[in-house]
Amino acid sequence: MKLPQHIAIIMDGNGRWARKRGLPRTAGHKAGMESVKEIVETCNELGVKVLTLYAFSTENWKRPKKEIRLLMDYLKDFLAKYSNEFNKKNIKLNAIGQLEKLPQSARNRLISTIEMTKGNQGLILNLALSYGGRAEIIEAVKKLVKDVQDKKFSPEQIDENIFSSYLHTGGLPDPDLLIRTSGEMRISNFLLWQISYSELYITNKLWPDFRQGDLVKAINEYSQRKRRFGG
Ligand code: FPP
Repeated sequence: MKLPQHIAIIMDGNGRWARKRGLPRTAGHKAGMESVKEIVETCNELGVKVLTLYAFSTENWKRPKKEIRLLMDYLKDFLAKYSNEFNKKNIKLNAIGQLEKLPQSARNRLISTIEMTKGNQGLILNLALSYGGRAEIIEAVKKLVKDVQDKKFSPEQIDENIFSSYLHTGGLPDPDLLIRTSGEMRISNFLLWQISYSELYITNKLWPDFRQGDLVKAINEYSQRKRRFGG
């Protein structure tokens, strides 16, 4: 089986999962954390290098305050509960997005887990938090322009590799496989630059129902695709 080096996932459908059961949306997020745990461990066991999870978008700040607060609490609880276990399993945590916008307590927990796991060589678990692809590109352009003004580069030297290195994902390979759960056919401002040649896999499964077997199915389908990169 041809294994993707980098899998990126738009974890959608928590709200619908909860509604189907007559529960509040936040119960869907809570159930979704179980899928996160299972998918992280499966990727690590399979030998996937990077797993990027879209956990909170720049647009998600428009949700009700209470839902945002609970999501941030869940993130904090998730890290508190599993960081030691992930560390023992050699998983390295990374985060992309406007992390300065996260509540202090969640950010502290995130930073301390990143610090604790920074020497690990297993799966890189890359959490996209307060992340937006367009905002990331604008931020990269601003830094690049500054470096050009400071004469670190001439404009002629800028190429795709240099530009990529200014994104939050600098140093990581582009996703080979992009998975979206719960059937919507859109990208939702996720990794706009990085997914130019990613294989797309969209499943109707809602995120809390997306488990190990579903991931293996997605990887199996990926391994049968012929990637031509436009050639
Ligand atoms: C989309 O479902 C999901 C989110 C906005 C948040 C994803 C968060 C988690 C899976 C849990 C916390 C994450 C970590 C990393 C611990 P939705 O609410 O948009 O669902 P809907 O489209 O059915 O309403």
